[in-house]
Amino acid sequence: MLAKLYEPIQRELDAVRAAVALELGGLDAQVRPVAEQAVGAPGKSIRPALLLLSGKAVGPVGESHVAAAASIELIHGATLVHDDVIDEASERRSRSTVHARWGGNVSILLGDMLFARALETLASVTTAEQLGLVAGAVSETCEGELLQLFGSRGDAFDEARYFEVIRKKTGALCGAACALGAALAGQPADGVERFDAFGRTLGAAFQIVDDCLDIRGDERTVGKTLGTDLLAGRSTLPVLYARDHASPEALHHFDHLLEHPESPHQRVRLAAILDDCGAFDYCEHATSRLVHDATAQLDFLGESAARQALVGMAQFVAQRDR
Ligand code: IPE
Ligand code: IPE
Ligand code: MG
Ligand code: MG
Repeated sequence: MLAKLYEPIQRELDAVRAAVALELGGLDAQVRPVAEQAVGAPGKSIRPALLLLSGKAVGPVGESHVAAAASIELIHGATLVHDDVIDEASERRSRSTVHARWGGNVSILLGDMLFARALETLASVTTAEQLGLVAGAVSETCEGELLQLFGSRGDAFDEARYFEVIRKKTGALCGAACALGAALAGQPADGVERFDAFGRTLGAAFQIVDDCLDIRGDERTVGKTLGTDLLAGRSTLPVLYARDHASPEALHHFDHLLEHPESPHQRVRLAAILDDCGAFDYCEHATSRLVHDATAQLDFLGESAARQALVGMAQFVAQRDR
């Protein structure tokens, strides 16, 4: 499905992957294998694709888009390197994580280095205002992760707080990718804001699906360590729903399973409890609403293959199984 959606930008996306490889090729021989472990294998390339398609939906796409898209992908890679430390995850993109192979110290430094190199490249193709847009998104990403860390075990963490967290930790960078793509193609400020809102809302939908995959996804298909939200006791949307709607017996069973991570098929049994009380159906409705709201932001655009692909991306994030 993604390959079809990427057709209007396939040439540029190939150039983005080449630019990332070139960036890695320039690293010190000892550092390079670590960076390659983290970002050498491409993921789904959602954020660079959003940037390129947003640019193409409003104007010409050129070298600055390719450089900016590579930078956004590296920033995303840096957040994943750090996130895998926080989640103590061992697998990412079907490979060992930097955390698993080299530990926390290397992960902290590598993440910062990738982030700084990405900003360096970005600064050479953007205005100060456009650079500020990306810096603001990275700040929100970190703030979202912090709010999740502080809040997820507390009673005060309710659905409103959850939506705030996902719009920040995942939505902000997706929004910045879309906004930057449009801005680099000459889109005026009010249009750029709509692209930001589109990406941010799409990103929130993306994270709800990710939070469901953490519980019911197939690790081999997804290619990353799952169940880390459960182990951390995080109140993601399916869990919040179950706390309010599952029977007391089901909740007792749920908590018992959470306290015994060694129990066989723990994740499968937890998923069954959430499924029975309608938590995944609820998440699917919430995701559909967000996809609808995201798509409405693009109503002001004329018809084009790129616009169609952006709408398709919003539908993809809601249905993905990896
Ligand atoms: C993973 O993002 C991190 C989240 C925001 C859930 P992706 O699922 O886009 O990761 P890759 O780039 O495809 O590996
Ligand atoms: C992290 O969310 C999102 C980021 C901003 C990095 P998750 O912790 O759910 O991401 P995965 O599941 O590890 O990819
Ligand atoms: Mg994680
Ligand atoms: Mg996750």
